[in-house]
This record gives sequence, structure tokens and C-alpha cells, in this order.
Amino acid sequence: DGLAALDRLVARRAAGHPLEHVVGWAEFAGLRIAVGPGVFVPRRRTEFLLALARDLLADAPGPVPAVVDLCCGSGAAAAALAASGRRAEVHAADIDPVAVGWARRNLAGAGEVHEGDLYAALPAALRGRVAVLVANVPYVPTADLPLLPTEARTHEPRVALDGGGDGLTVLRRVAAEAGEWLAPGGTLLVETTGRQADTAREVLAAAGLTPALHHDEERAATVLTGTRPA
Ligand SMILES: C[S@@+](CC[C@H](N)C(=O)[O-])C[C@H]1O[C@@H](n2cnc3c(N)ncnc32)[C@H](O)[C@@H]1O
Repeated sequence: DGLAALDRLVARRAAGHPLEHVVGWAEFAGLRIAVGPGVFVPRRRTEFLLALARDLLADAPGPVPAVVDLCCGSGAAAAALAASGRRAEVHAADIDPVAVGWARRNLAGAGEVHEGDLYAALPAALRGRVAVLVANVPYVPTADLPLLPTEARTHEPRVALDGGGDGLTVLRRVAAEAGEWLAPGGTLLVETTGRQADTAREVLAAAGLTPALHHDEERAATVLTGTRPA
């Protein structure tokens, strides 16, 4: 009955499962994003990246600009952009089939979800057309993984967290190909940390993008944008 079900939820929470996995959703940008075991829980911090992406989408040229959420996890950012009020062609992609399943659920009717390794997952027709490219890549340096809270360490997939030696391995791959997929004047947005920001900025600049750093004190969020010259 109801009480027994509640007891089971409390027991899972007490055993260390993330609250969002237990209740089945996470709040993100005013939306309820469905999540469960095996998928990265969208962080409130990432609402800063979303707000910047939404502004860029609002200003994007053309009647129906293309938006891509690479490394989409549950698809929270793509879902929020699809709900932003600006008509857009929304795509999301992730390498993890579990994440793809949640993203399909969160984007039902609002966007297409693709499974595969970074850009290899995307339809070729998007090349050179992407106005807003969101990529909340894994960025925790491998050696720092043991320092994460147990909820993340134990209950979120390693592929969602592990950014390689200096935390920038996936970002380097995303940056290297971004120029081929972005429309002229289109922008890549990635979350980073204060510690990584300088190197990450160089990575974007070396890939031919014009970098800009954005910081939000309240959410303790740092976002790096890289714009393809028009
Ligand atoms: C930090 S999580 C972010 C998820 C989501 N964007 C969010 O903010 O909630 C990183 C995501 O990147 C995905 N990922 C890691 N390596 C990838 C790759 N090579 N290609 C595509 N997705 C990848 C993981 O599966 C995970 O869902």
C-alpha cells in the first residue's frame, strides 16, 4: 500500500541513492525532468548554462534555428530549450543507452535523441547549421573522482563524470569538431570550473572559436562559450 511504498523510497534514500533517482524526477529550469537509476541528475548549477543558451537561441537568425545538446544525459537542457518559446529544431545525443532512454522520454514530441560517440551520433544534415551547441561534458579529473559525494560516485555512471587526466579530455574532442557543426556565428556552451577555465579557454581558441567566460556567483557556475566567427 501507500505506506509500504513510502517505506521503500525512504529506505533507498537512506541507503544513499540520490533523492532525484528515488522520487523519479529532478527540477530543472522550472521543468520536471524524469530521471532514475543509471542517469546523471541534472544540476541546478547547469541552469546558468541553460539561461545563456536560451538567450542565444532567442537571438539566433532564421525561422527555425537548430539546437544540439551533446552529452545530453537525461536531456534536461534540450527539453528546457525546446520549452523556451522560440521555435527550434532540437537534437540531443549521448553515448550511454540508459541516458538516451531517459532523454527520449523527456523530449518526447519536442526533439530527436540520437545514440553514439559525440558528433558521430548526429545526422549529417546538421553540419554547419547548429546555432546553439550545448555540451555539458564530463569534466572531473580522473584523480578527483574519489572526492565526489558518494551519491555521484556510486549512483551516477562513470562515463558521465570522468573527464580524463586533467578533466578536459572530452571537451578537447568537442571543441576540435565544433566549428564543422556550428553555423557561422553559432555558439558552443560548456560548463567548466574556475580551476580549468584558463586551459579550457585556450582549447576553444585553438579550435578557431572565439571564447568568452561567464560566471554566476549565486549558482557557483562557470560557463565557457566559443563562437564560430560569422
Ligand atoms: C556531466 S553529464 C551531463 C548530462 C546532462 N547534459 C546534464 O547536464 O544533466 C555528461 C554526459 O556525457 C555523456 N558522455 C560522456 N562521454 C560521451 C561521448 N563520448 N559521447 C557522447 N556522450 C558522452 C555521459 O553519458 C553523460 O550523460
